[in-house]
Amino acid sequence: MSNAQAVLESPPELSPVVFQKIRKLVYDTAGIDLREGKETLVSARLGKKLRQLGHRSYDEYLHRVTSDTTGESLIALIDVLTTNFTSFLREPQHFEFLKAKILPALEKRNRIEIWCAAAATGEEPYSLAFTLFEHFGAEAATRCRILATDISTAALAKARAAVYPVQRFESVPREWLPKYLLRGHGASEGFYKIKPEVARIVEYRRLNLIEAFDPGTVFPLISCRNVMIYFDKPTQAKIVNRMAMFLEPGAHFFVGHSESLNGIEHPFQFVKPAIYRKP
Ligand SMILES: C[S@@+](CC[C@H](N)C(=O)[O-])C[C@H]1O[C@@H](n2cnc3c(N)ncnc32)[C@H](O)[C@@H]1O
Repeated sequence: MSNAQAVLESPPELSPVVFQKIRKLVYDTAGIDLREGKETLVSARLGKKLRQLGHRSYDEYLHRVTSDTTGESLIALIDVLTTNFTSFLREPQHFEFLKAKILPALEKRNRIEIWCAAAATGEEPYSLAFTLFEHFGAEAATRCRILATDISTAALAKARAAVYPVQRFESVPREWLPKYLLRGHGASEGFYKIKPEVARIVEYRRLNLIEAFDPGTVFPLISCRNVMIYFDKPTQAKIVNRMAMFLEPGAHFFVGHSESLNGIEHPFQFVKPAIYRKP
């Protein structure tokens, strides 16, 4: 291996000064708080990016990010540093509550809209879609819509593609598979695609929760799960109070089970762990 190759293949050292620069940039842009101790994660993920782009130092890479007026390099940086971990029917208590309590109360409406505010690679909005189809049958195709947003363009691209390895569906009831999925053949063997009539009720949009967002309507349910953990308390308070503006009276608000609204001022009533209600 030549010296030049060695330089490119082992990531340069991430100095404390550069880490703080990246930390500030990511905090200011996405509200994500890369606390002390995240240096290893940052250098592993950005080191790879540096190699791909052929940069020799983090400063050189950061210069590229901050001088790119299209904003694409910044989006790519956020994409690399966000963790999109998710799964179908993750935290099933939420889907059980939706089925048992929320949907029966919405029975008479001819339009039901839900906002999934950290949709990642699509498993959560499609799980919501399956639950809506289970409740309303084929009518869900015309009566229901899920607005699914995320900051990560890479995650949203996967979500829109709606194709997942078969193993990802282990948490989904077996009888749902033929109802909501198309099994891949040939080159797509081992994959399922969400049926177009199911995927169609999900509308994906890129949305940064720390910006002054306006989804353009009010919802009977907003699911904002497993994203609060990235934000500090003042940012969480801002987001939660802004979301409250887009909930109808009596509407529900879901957060992840490892999250809570303790310690922030908000207008919600506690219903049960990770479930709140707007009075
Ligand atoms: C761990 S995933 C949660 C996925 C899903 N809600 C669940 O519970 O399985 C967190 C998601 O939050 C997104 N995210 C992080 N910061 C964000 C921001 N400022 N605005 C919108 N989405 C953000 C990430 O891109 C990621 O897809």
